[in-house]
Amino acid sequence: MLDVADLHAAYGRILALKGITLRVETGEITALVGGNGAGKTTLLRCLSGVHPVKSGRVTFHGDEITAFPAHARVAAGIAQSPEGRQVFGPLSVEDNLRLGAFRRGRADTEAGLDRVYGMFDILKTKRHLQAAGLSGGQQQMLAIGRALMSGPRLLLLDEPSMGLAPLLVDQILAAVVALKAQGVTVLLVEQNASAALSIADRGYVIETGRIAHSGTGLALLHDPAVREAYLGV
Ligand SMILES: Nc1ncnc2c1ncn2[C@@H]1O[C@H](COP(=O)(O)OP(=O)(O)OP(=O)(O)O)[C@@H](O)[C@H]1O
Ligand SMILES: [Mg+2]
Repeated sequence: MLDVADLHAAYGRILALKGITLRVETGEITALVGGNGAGKTTLLRCLSGVHPVKSGRVTFHGDEITAFPAHARVAAGIAQSPEGRQVFGPLSVEDNLRLGAFRRGRADTEAGLDRVYGMFDILKTKRHLQAAGLSGGQQQMLAIGRALMSGPRLLLLDEPSMGLAPLLVDQILAAVVALKAQGVTVLLVEQNASAALSIADRGYVIETGRIAHSGTGLALLHDPAVREAYLGV
């Protein structure tokens, strides 16, 4: 579905991505794991079109989208749930969700709300409350729900488990697995490597802007080098 070839990206003169090559297969969960500052967020931002690419190619469903602006990527079926959730605090839960569907018509928006509320019933209960009043886990559900409102084929999730208690981490990851069952393809970025790899079909380990390891989620979970560096065992 998504093909990334030799992608480079920088902040000024500092190279953050030094030739990233990876694939995301349709219907799968692909995990991208790695430590602080490895380049995970930069890659997702290049894929959603909010950070410029220096060189390399991004192909989505066979179409080269490397130069597409962000809104054209949403139209093509790519949605991102950003690091740190970035919900609109003063707005209601439901208005946050409706913003995720700004391109879509009324019927699709209402169907999207039903889908998100079916997945996260706490968001339905709190739909008229300010997003700022939600707990961290609920805000994460809202960020994922808002991304889903555009009806994406590919969902980019940046550290959905960050800062959450273990029980909530499990709940969020279960939601990711449920999305896969609904046919959504997911690229899941996580510092929590064991959690991400255990639900992933395929995984990549990124170190200082380069892919250091790749394989099935299971193979990476059992790879001694990955275990030592990222799983604390
Ligand atoms: N706005 C910025 N200006 C300058 N350098 C940046 C900026 N954002 C990120 N970087 C640098 O780019 C590199 C990659 O950062 P990035 O945020 O993509 O890493 P990450 O893997 O998402 O890390 P984390 O797990 O902490 O979220 C790091 O060296 C970082 O310091
Ligand atoms: Mg990051």
